[in-house]
Amino acid sequence: MEEKYYKSAEVAKICGVSSQTIRNWEENGKIPEVEKNEKGWRFYTESDLLKIKAYFLHKATFKKKQTRIISISNQKGGVAKTTTSINLGAALALAHKKKVLLIDMDMQAHLTCGLGIDPYTLKSTMYEILTERNFDIKKIIRETCVKNLVIAPAHPRMVEATSFLNSKIDRPFYLRNALRGIVESSDYDYIIIDCPPQLDLLFANAMLASTDLIIPIQPESYALDGVASLTRQIIEIKEGPGHDINLLGALITMYKKTNLHQVIIEETQRYFGYKCFKTIIPSNIVIAEASTLKKPVIMHQKRSKGSQAYLALAKEVLNG
Ligand SMILES: Nc1ncnc2c1ncn2[C@@H]1O[C@H](COP(=O)(O)OP(=O)(O)OP(=O)(O)O)[C@@H](O)[C@H]1O
Ligand SMILES: [Mg+2]
Repeated sequence: MEEKYYKSAEVAKICGVSSQTIRNWEENGKIPEVEKNEKGWRFYTESDLLKIKAYFLHKATFKKKQTRIISISNQKGGVAKTTTSINLGAALALAHKKKVLLIDMDMQAHLTCGLGIDPYTLKSTMYEILTERNFDIKKIIRETCVKNLVIAPAHPRMVEATSFLNSKIDRPFYLRNALRGIVESSDYDYIIIDCPPQLDLLFANAMLASTDLIIPIQPESYALDGVASLTRQIIEIKEGPGHDINLLGALITMYKKTNLHQVIIEETQRYFGYKCFKTIIPSNIVIAEASTLKKPVIMHQKRSKGSQAYLALAKEVLNG
């Protein structure tokens, strides 16, 4: 397939700045130098355009560093991504009075259902955010049973969002664009994104919108299998679109006092070094019960081991 080239004016229009601004960024080394023809006109490839857009959005979105946007991600299924999103969010909101927005980026909509919301009853969800440019995210945000904790719900229709995004040049930037307004006005202290168990375009959107990443690890056999490809994706995002995402830490979840779990914990700590949370989330029936009751564990049994672990995790995140 022939590569598509963009002229300066086209790139400037896409980014909403002047051609001179683009030239200044290039001269100041903020974006890579591009090819010029014999007349000295600049021609940008699709990859140049992605890098420029990433720089522009990074400048615009993260000017004020107040809102931390934390993705909870691991492509391995069932490792407690959703459970951690709900309970970390609730611990930050209830114990520390932080304003928290949860974003459900998984078409399974477990986070949404886990807070007692039926996605089929909703008029608009993350599906609209991912398929309609400039759809206002405030229109989909809903209250939860926890004060200061709100949610941008998912819908199973998000399965179609991936093929829609595939046809868009700025496909990995839809979520980041959607968050720009609420980040600039510092509406939330924390935004927590529950990622899908795939390294797909929804995952890429989450990564490019995030400032931080938590990787939950369930200490079973092959626990670290997918971590290498996840790490590779993060490196590609850093080197490709040039977005810097900070690994807050690997988080051991569903820990049981067995020799196997101990061995895998040690292996995980060796792999991640100091980027491993001190808090270990135990396997705790109260956490599972709370999820069937569609509420965070702190609202169910505050004194349970599960609650205490998520409260300790919230403290580490606050200090991290
Ligand atoms: N600490 C825990 N103790 C006991 N059960 C837990 C704990 N954490 C999570 N679970 C249970 O494990 C199951 C999987 O958790 P969860 O849905 O959070 O995983 P996930 O990584 O989001 O899965 P998916 O990859 O499908 O999105 C759920 O039934 C949940 O209630
Ligand atoms: Mg999940």
